[in-house]
Amino acid sequence: MIHGVRVEKVVTSGTFELDGGSWEVDNNVWLVGNDEEVLVIDAPHDEAKIAEAVGGRRVVAIVCTHAHNDHINAAPALAERTGAPVLLHLDDNLLWHKIHPDRKPDGYLAHDRRLTVAGTELMALHTPGHTPGAISLYAPDLATVFTGDTLFQGGPGATGRSFSDFPTIIRSIRDRLLTLPPETVVRPGHGDSTTVQAESPDLQKWIDRGY
Ligand SMILES: [Fe+2]
Repeated sequence: MIHGVRVEKVVTSGTFELDGGSWEVDNNVWLVGNDEEVLVIDAPHDEAKIAEAVGGRRVVAIVCTHAHNDHINAAPALAERTGAPVLLHLDDNLLWHKIHPDRKPDGYLAHDRRLTVAGTELMALHTPGHTPGAISLYAPDLATVFTGDTLFQGGPGATGRSFSDFPTIIRSIRDRLLTLPPETVVRPGHGDSTTVQAESPDLQKWIDRGY
């Protein structure tokens, strides 16, 4: 691990809303950086709580793993406060604009785009299925991948609602996440972390059960 770079987790609470339903959720916010600068992964529910974790550090970017409301609802306010750009995959633009019709993202993250924070590199992996523009962020030097709602401890993210597709999420997980080194720590958008090695043996089980 590169000296001084660390991963911090903040949990915020609110609701996930889609297709007319509403569910109470706790969301993980991941901060990658050092004492000077930080990259924020997802900005759910509570801008003040995320800003408190950032402290006086420069925010390099606010990366949204996908544009469900429970990952982006505090992004514009956090961007306003910190001056950082909000980055998203273009294929989630439609979902973004349902939540924030008057505020565009500041930039788009294509597959393989690299971001650098505190001297460490993060690579955007397009991992569609939960949403069309879902991305994961892989940090090889930190041996970790931030998977949003694509891969959790215990299986894939939900694909039962609008804009989701199960065969697509399985392809993303099989080809772009489970191919990472086995020791890679998987840090999802909700709940506990896991590893590539811990999840890999269950791929066929998920395919068989269909979720
Ligand atoms: Fe989601």
